[in-house]
Amino acid sequence: MKPAAARRRFPGAHGDWARFDGPAGTQMVDSAIRAASDWSASGNNANTHGAFAAAHATDDLLERARGVVAQLLDANPNGVVFGANMTTMTFAFTRAVARTLKPGDRVVGTRLDHDANVSPWRIACEESGAEHVLAPFSPADGRLDMDALARLITPNTKWVAVTGASNLIGTIPDVRTVVALAHHVGARVFVDAVHLVPHMPVSVRAIGCDVLATSPYKWYGPHAGVMCIEPNLLNSLPVAKVRPADDVGPRRFETGTPNLACIAAVEAAARHLLEEDMRSVARYESDVFAPLLHGLLSMPRVRVWGPQTLDGRTPTVAFTVDGVPPDKVAESLAAKKIAVWSGSSYAVELVSHLGLTESGGVIRAGVVRYVTNDDVQRLLDAVALA
Ligand SMILES: Cc1ncc(COP(=O)(O)O)c(C=O)c1O
Repeated sequence: MKPAAARRRFPGAHGDWARFDGPAGTQMVDSAIRAASDWSASGNNANTHGAFAAAHATDDLLERARGVVAQLLDANPNGVVFGANMTTMTFAFTRAVARTLKPGDRVVGTRLDHDANVSPWRIACEESGAEHVLAPFSPADGRLDMDALARLITPNTKWVAVTGASNLIGTIPDVRTVVALAHHVGARVFVDAVHLVPHMPVSVRAIGCDVLATSPYKWYGPHAGVMCIEPNLLNSLPVAKVRPADDVGPRRFETGTPNLACIAAVEAAARHLLEEDMRSVARYESDVFAPLLHGLLSMPRVRVWGPQTLDGRTPTVAFTVDGVPPDKVAESLAAKKIAVWSGSSYAVELVSHLGLTESGGVIRAGVVRYVTNDDVQRLLDAVALA
């Protein structure tokens, strides 16, 4: 779909703002907005497992939505679980994992990760007496230090929690190799794919991980979370559940009544990406992102943090401007109707490893489906004057 036609599908992106805040949340696609509204008006708002038509429609919605999300992520629909957001679901997941951990066990994470894939594991380790260690990355190019990670994955490792892509600097680690290293010692792998799924085709099957988490509001859907959990793991994990809830399948992890209108919108957003084709989304975003990265790299007062090339990354860049605090840069861009985030964007370990905590982190600009070449030129012109 051509950029102008694509942009028309996002009512929230119609204004005169240049929206580089996509990594923190995207504008919803029109079909997802309609799906939530249509469901709410349909009379099918009921609950699951009932004897009447609306209850059947509710079951059908859940089954259909799991199927479409599974298709988008090339995952097993029997392991697709819906929830409030990635952070809430990860805390619920790690609370269950904590009941399986004991002193002497190890959980390995990375300093590239968003804190939503660090603190839940840290707390699970504190509560169970297991050890929590984090693999570093190279400050020069933002690449995960795979040798250090391999050394940390010892025979007592039970879980490896790794990002599919850094939400701050865009690095895409070699997650398949991480899975091979972990599975070699019998450890399981949890992939935070929140920043990966909006930008690249993702196959849970090909990655081979045990859990993959994503947030539909980062891919043009509503505020929700999705987890793909390997079905045997899902059915055996000692999750906190009420007794009448299903003992097997996704409903054992989805506490209480699902947010049905929201799930209807998740289904529509996933369908949208399937229709768009993630390979063409990735191509479009890379074409728009290339001049942004090169423009920032060519500015003498600007420093780009993380990968310096277009390879193995998402279209998200972190930078600082000499002598100007990141918050001030964000404010001066906002005055020109350019939306970016400043600070750590919750990647607190990453910012600390770069030595940027005291100076206020970085400015982050991300390209998504409705960001255009004109937006990029406006951003570059404004940064040059910041
Ligand atoms: C990489 C990454 N992981 C996790 C999260 C947390 O997601 P949620 O807001 O769905 O809890 C975010 C949100 O910014 C993120 O970018």
